[in-house]
Amino acid sequence: MSVLYLDWNATTPPHPDVVAAMTRAASEVWGNPASVHGPGRRAKSLVEDAREAVAALVGLDARDAVLTSGGTEANNLALWHAFADCLPPRAGRERRAALVVSRIEHPSVVRMAEHLGELGVVVAWVGPSPSGAVPVEAVAEALDWAAAQAEVRLVAMGAVNHETGVIQPVGAVAALCRARGVPLFVDAVQAVGKLAPSAWEGADLVSLAAHKIRGPKGIGALVTRPSVRLSRMLFGGSQERGLRPGTQDPVACAGLAVAAERARSGPARYEALGPLRDLLEGELLRAGEGAGVVPLRNGAGERAPHVLNMSWPGWRGDELCAALDLERVAVSSGSACSAGTAEPSPVLSAMVGEERALAAVRVSLGEETTVEDVREAASRWARVLGRSRG
Ligand SMILES: Cc1ncc(COP(=O)(O)O)c(C=O)c1O
Repeated sequence: MSVLYLDWNATTPPHPDVVAAMTRAASEVWGNPASVHGPGRRAKSLVEDAREAVAALVGLDARDAVLTSGGTEANNLALWHAFADCLPPRAGRERRAALVVSRIEHPSVVRMAEHLGELGVVVAWVGPSPSGAVPVEAVAEALDWAAAQAEVRLVAMGAVNHETGVIQPVGAVAALCRARGVPLFVDAVQAVGKLAPSAWEGADLVSLAAHKIRGPKGIGALVTRPSVRLSRMLFGGSQERGLRPGTQDPVACAGLAVAAERARSGPARYEALGPLRDLLEGELLRAGEGAGVVPLRNGAGERAPHVLNMSWPGWRGDELCAALDLERVAVSSGSACSAGTAEPSPVLSAMVGEERALAAVRVSLGEETTVEDVREAASRWARVLGRSRG
């Protein structure tokens, strides 16, 4: 029985063109990109190709792209930069600094926001509606609340939620931010290569990760508008304009360049997954009915075409995932970074409550998912549900 991989939001299989470029680079381009001699210059050209490719993918300038170890580091850097100059708060400082951030962000944003809060930054949290979208009015209220007590330095919001696929109102929030002169950071890790660039349009800072677009793990980027002045989190050499010191990896860069280039045509491939996702949703509803379980869909309104999140009353999501894994169906309960914890997903808890969050399973399709995969996954799912009833 073959594995049906339906967890593309956790990571994507590297594309063969990415593997080929990395294999070539691994044996031929081993120089240090910071060296000025020939082998170094050759390695540096791979780094710069990756920088050009990510900048073209998000629609910003390569001179403003910082290559990082992935989405987590890019997100940390985006939040940190806005507050680095005012931490720790000094006695006598007249106005404190504030951050507006949604409750349904990836942990790499949420944990950093909490940390900044502990360091004295005023953090205005914005909850989602039960549909999974962050209401624009709630962002406006949070901005007003924060501005009344501190200088608002940043608004942070994901373009598309990693657990539900719900598309967030970035355009409207960007307009709010522009009107108030507050920079907007958009975590586009789950959006680039899947949605058109309008999904993060208006952002002043944009993050992405190579492994979500069929590139290698361990590399990503933060790309900004030229007006943004980033601050370093790491100290060392002058790589990445001193903002991200440490020897760059030309092999990972070779993979990122190919992945980012491919991802520019990704939205059309992902759009084609919408009907497959809907087919799967229908089949799972029928499988549930057959087994006396009525699954509840988490996330309404505009969704990315490849993501489906459902709660299964009577089940724990992690147990259902484990049972499906025995049937060689790879799906997840919550995001990959919280997998293995018994905690319900904070994203779903904020949307629909803890009980439903505990029973949730996320399915995310990808470029290679076929109709046959979807039908086969639904039939294995029905088998698991049926066995438990038996
Ligand atoms: C929305 C979002 N942001 C950030 C990240 C973190 O990216 P990385 O795994 O490259 O650290 C993820 C990973 O799942 C994500 O889904």
